[in-house]
Amino acid sequence: MPARSILIRDIPEDVRSWLVMECDQRRLTQQEFLLSILQSARDEQPSLFDMPPANDLPADGMPFGFIDLFAGIGGLRLGLEAAGGHCLFSSEWDRYSQKTYKSWFGEVPHGDITKIPPADIPDHDVLAAGFPCQPFSIAGVSKKNSLGRAHGFKDAAQGNLFFNLATIIELKRPPAIMLENVKNLKSHDRGQTWKVIQSTLEALDYRIFSQVIDARHWVPQHRERIFIVGFDRRVFGDNPPFTFPEFPGGEPPTLRPILEKKVDGRYTLSDHLWNYLQEYAERHRAAGNGFGYGLVNLDGTTRTLSARYYKDGSEILIPQRRRNPRRLTPREAARLMGFPDRLKIVVSDTQAYKQFGNAVVPPVAEAVARQLVRVLGWYLKEIRGGCLVKNGVSAIGRG
Ligand SMILES: C[S@@+](CC[C@H](N)C(=O)[O-])C[C@H]1O[C@@H](n2cnc3c(N)ncnc32)[C@H](O)[C@@H]1O
Repeated sequence: MPARSILIRDIPEDVRSWLVMECDQRRLTQQEFLLSILQSARDEQPSLFDMPPANDLPADGMPFGFIDLFAGIGGLRLGLEAAGGHCLFSSEWDRYSQKTYKSWFGEVPHGDITKIPPADIPDHDVLAAGFPCQPFSIAGVSKKNSLGRAHGFKDAAQGNLFFNLATIIELKRPPAIMLENVKNLKSHDRGQTWKVIQSTLEALDYRIFSQVIDARHWVPQHRERIFIVGFDRRVFGDNPPFTFPEFPGGEPPTLRPILEKKVDGRYTLSDHLWNYLQEYAERHRAAGNGFGYGLVNLDGTTRTLSARYYKDGSEILIPQRRRNPRRLTPREAARLMGFPDRLKIVVSDTQAYKQFGNAVVPPVAEAVARQLVRVLGWYLKEIRGGCLVKNGVSAIGRG
């Protein structure tokens, strides 16, 4: 007969009085409370269910479990972790990004998301994804059949990576989702892409919020990205009190403070490349196009760092006295994206530029995540009455 009881002697007085107080506040017996702690420790999945009463919710940051899809180098992950999140699963198929991710987070993300059965993905409170923007080919599928009802997305989105997201959402029903994409998602393919995405998420019964946010309020870079935040209507109802973050106050950050003091000569443009860029820009100016290299004002913000920055670095060039301009070093590119210096760059310059150019700006992800977490706290307080859900890992609304 397995032992079913545990006796603990000599509990220090401060721990005992904490236990009594917690049980009292949660309206649980000591046995129920201790059992729920043991179960969460066993499952190692901090979740909203393990939260203290809503009245005690910290003003910012609280435990929740999330998954990181199309993870890149984890820009979204850093933001979600700063808001109290704990990553339960990640997927990214690029091996160089996996290398960086492993070095920063101690785990190699799973590979191709299209090959992962959704049932193998752990339950989670928040699904995060910076999914690639692709057109949907919906030729031959009538709008009535493909949109506006659950399951219908399979017709419209088959073969598109968004299809994998929708399938995971349908099966796992995370209480909240946080997606990131390029600014022009809404106008992509003459609005068709956004129409499919929005109607699919709504058909899955999620209330969707979207906003283009310019990272220049957090980092010295003009970088507009759309953030899509969704809440399960079956849990939060039709009007979860979500708003996108306010911009941080004060003057926007400028480039100068993030530049390195000593920079290797290899980042200075060769005469050949610099001449080429100037001639190219001149030709385009003459033709009436504004495009060319971007020599930055050190006391301003840069253009958007793109994944192709490694090619010639022309969109962000740093002027130098009595020398040709130079490109950003990989560390400067990291700072421009808001990645902290404690994260070592473990790949070649080329890969590093690609990875930073593809990434989500962590401080922006954090600001959005904190707003999302406020809604989770609101739910616990207003809807759940601050009660701890007993017996485990059935996340919000999934009980
Ligand atoms: C825009 S980046 C995501 C940036 C990332 N979310 C961040 O926070 O830094 C999109 C990523 O999706 C990855 N990707 C594309 N198709 C994939 C697939 N089928 N499975 C896994 N990862 C994929 C790409 O390699 C790329 O790194």
